[in-house]
Amino acid sequence: MAQTISFLLVLSLVTFSPLCFFGMANGASPLYPQFYDHSCPKALEIVKSVVAKAVAKEARMAASLLRLHFHDCFVKGCDASLLLDSSGTITSEKRSNPNRNSARGFEVLDAIKSALEKECPHTVSCADILALAARDSTVLTGGPSWEVPLGRRDSKGASLSGSNRNIPAPNNTFQTILTKFKLQKLDIVDLVALSGSHTIGNARCTSFRQRLYNQSGNGQPDFSLDQSYAAQLRTRCPRSGGDQNLFFLDFVSPTKFDNNYYKNILASKGLLSSDQVLFTKSEASMELVKKYAANSKLFFEQFAKSMVKMGNISPLTGSKGEIRKNCRKINT
Ligand code: HEM
Ligand SMILES: *[C@@H]1O[C@H](CO)[C@@H](O)[C@H](O)[C@H]1NC(C)=O
Ligand SMILES: *[C@@H]1O[C@H](CO)[C@@H](O)[C@H](O)[C@H]1NC(C)=O
Repeated sequence: MAQTISFLLVLSLVTFSPLCFFGMANGASPLYPQFYDHSCPKALEIVKSVVAKAVAKEARMAASLLRLHFHDCFVKGCDASLLLDSSGTITSEKRSNPNRNSARGFEVLDAIKSALEKECPHTVSCADILALAARDSTVLTGGPSWEVPLGRRDSKGASLSGSNRNIPAPNNTFQTILTKFKLQKLDIVDLVALSGSHTIGNARCTSFRQRLYNQSGNGQPDFSLDQSYAAQLRTRCPRSGGDQNLFFLDFVSPTKFDNNYYKNILASKGLLSSDQVLFTKSEASMELVKKYAANSKLFFEQFAKSMVKMGNISPLTGSKGEIRKNCRKINT
């Protein structure tokens, strides 16, 4: 009897524990944090040290790396499709509207990859490097930490159209943005928490100009933007020209991962329309913005959870995909 019970216990643990602990996408084998413990024990340390060096050199790099994981995961899943350059059959996602003149940090990923190839050749995927670099960037700027489930493999293709279609634009409506998140099985809580990434990093004038001059086609600015803040922004973001001029997404603490992003939104000083609509277009998301503005611990806890959830979007596992030798090209 006791034997039967312990047998059933072991069976149930073996059968169900990976599911419970790591979450499983569409019956594929699940990701788990210890994936490289034997095959490349120093992998996590190496990623962290290269990211730390890059962020010490330029604080913004933390933001740029965090964003790359998002822009990877929303197109065909977290498979490093974003990192492929154009060549042969591949049209790079780097050319898409959300990425062109904007996505950056690719040289840092090259440096991480080459350090890892020296330590343990052909072992650590570029997709996992993106997930780890996003976590390390968050921690380095003062944000929460979390264990990163690992074991993603790299795609053998890219999708320019998917990048244009799936990644939300800063002038999308609240509903459109939420729909794009739901397509990835992310909900309104994930949307509001992950948007908190805009507590670090920069945006170009072209990403929010419409709000300053002609928000809804009637020649009027966006009145959900504080008008003296808008006037200040207009000085370096003119009606025409200056497209690439850079502005802090969180003007209060631009390189610190904290909850000032939400406080700014409460003060009508969210930089992007997509930031401010979280407060003005949905009761449910407004409540979440207030909650995270009032309590950074709640924000940090939810951010970590939502990052793991985002990192689980359709990974390639088992024998799918490959481990690229160079993140910019598929193996030959
Ligand atoms: C909710 C929908 C979102 C929209 C519409 C959006 C849009 C944007 C835009 C327009 C920029 C500025 C790009 C530029 O002007 O060059 C930006 C920057 C950034 N985004 Fe988002 N984003 C969203 C969600 C996210 C999520 C989920 C993350 C991460 C999990 C993220 C992380 C970042 C970071 C860190 C930056 C600064 C990058 C840098 O300084 O290099 N964003 N985003
Ligand atoms: C959003 O911005 C894009 C690019 O600037 C523009 O083509 C489009 O018309 C804008 N959409 C709306 C609804 O304002
Ligand atoms: C505002 O945009 C609309 C259409 O998007 C355009 O017809 C109108 O001329 C613009 N007004 C100004 C003042 O730029």
